[in-house]
Amino acid sequence: MSIDVIVVGLGFGADFVPIYQAHESVGRVAVVDSDPARTAAVADRLGIADRFDSLEEALAAPGWDAVHLLTPVALHAGQVQQVLKSGRHCASAVPMATTLDDLDQLIATQEGAGRNYMMMETAVYSREYFHARSLLDSGRLGRLAYFRGEHLQNLDGFPPYWLGYPPMHYVTHALSPALALAGSRVESVRCLGSSPLTPDRIGVAGPGYGTEAALFQLAGELVANVTMSFFQLGRSYLEGFSVYGDEGALEWPQLEGGPMKEFAMRPLEPGRRGRAVDERDVRPDGAPELLPVSLRPFTAGGHGGSHPHLVHEFVSSIVEERRPRVDARTAATWTAPGICAHQSALQGGAEVLVPDYGIS
Ligand SMILES: NC(=O)c1ccc[n+]([C@@H]2O[C@H](COP(=O)([O-])OP(=O)(O)OC[C@H]3O[C@@H](n4cnc5c(N)ncnc54)[C@H](O)[C@@H]3O)[C@@H](O)[C@H]2O)c1
Repeated sequence: MSIDVIVVGLGFGADFVPIYQAHESVGRVAVVDSDPARTAAVADRLGIADRFDSLEEALAAPGWDAVHLLTPVALHAGQVQQVLKSGRHCASAVPMATTLDDLDQLIATQEGAGRNYMMMETAVYSREYFHARSLLDSGRLGRLAYFRGEHLQNLDGFPPYWLGYPPMHYVTHALSPALALAGSRVESVRCLGSSPLTPDRIGVAGPGYGTEAALFQLAGELVANVTMSFFQLGRSYLEGFSVYGDEGALEWPQLEGGPMKEFAMRPLEPGRRGRAVDERDVRPDGAPELLPVSLRPFTAGGHGGSHPHLVHEFVSSIVEERRPRVDARTAATWTAPGICAHQSALQGGAEVLVPDYGIS
């Protein structure tokens, strides 16, 4: 069986088009962007005949099994609804949505439509995540003890729709590895905002903070400590997670591109205060062997080599008629904590309970 896929939004989205073209279970690939010049440039470069001027035009066309949305965040919830209601399967860039109401509606629509929804979370298909997973599964971390996550990025000069964007509304890259490794959800969050936005950065979202720092209480008594910053922080880009067990740890580097640090505790030696620790630099390979041969070269790409894994999981879930790994309830479980964290920051750090979306 092969499926036909429409890719919508050709900024970041342009990176995904060749991966769909290379997938053995994908037939035709179409492209859509509201900017016709961008559509033409990408389609011409990649030899694509099927192009549409809008999502509406694409959904009105007969055929086409699945749509991958890579449009601005504010459009995700509405466009996912459109795609699912048209009877197509839908993949969407993060985040799933920016309100709890929209998360509920998307779950209801997906379950009513009986079509697949997948949130394309790069962080849980990265080389670093695959390495953390293997350390945990082989027992080298011991029992999970604590998580840290950071996403520090300067959005000055980005398209104006990013102005005032609450950093915690984009928490999934920094938090989802912890939730995926622990197989858990967030029960509650306390978050503080730091550095109120200057008037020129407030935008449509209203007053907020350049940086938000949250403590997420996970079911199972673990804590994830996550800092998100999009404005007014004078340091270079960093997007990653660290995971700590009682026997070892894996830490994200201070500078992007640097090696990760792996830690392994030694047994306590008689007469010594504190256990000795072995440290080593590690540059994980990822898991290309999990992919069809035609997709493996794409693991050299950005976001930890995650893009071909995301495409393969979305396409395989449709072909195999099963739920994708990051289905609607899992996506809501990973997105809602950030929405609640921003609510907490606006309430001066009050505890906010996070809904339970019932992931198994
Ligand atoms: N690691 C990651 O997962 C990751 C990385 C980068 C971006 N993203 C997400 O991908 C999405 C796109 O990001 P970007 O940086 O490419 O944004 P962008 O604003 O640079 O590009 C968005 C594209 O969508 C097009 N577009 C806008 N409205 C449209 C509409 N109604 N119909 C069709 N096309 C439309 C624009 O013309 C533009 O080409 C965002 O949701 C972003 O959060 C995720």
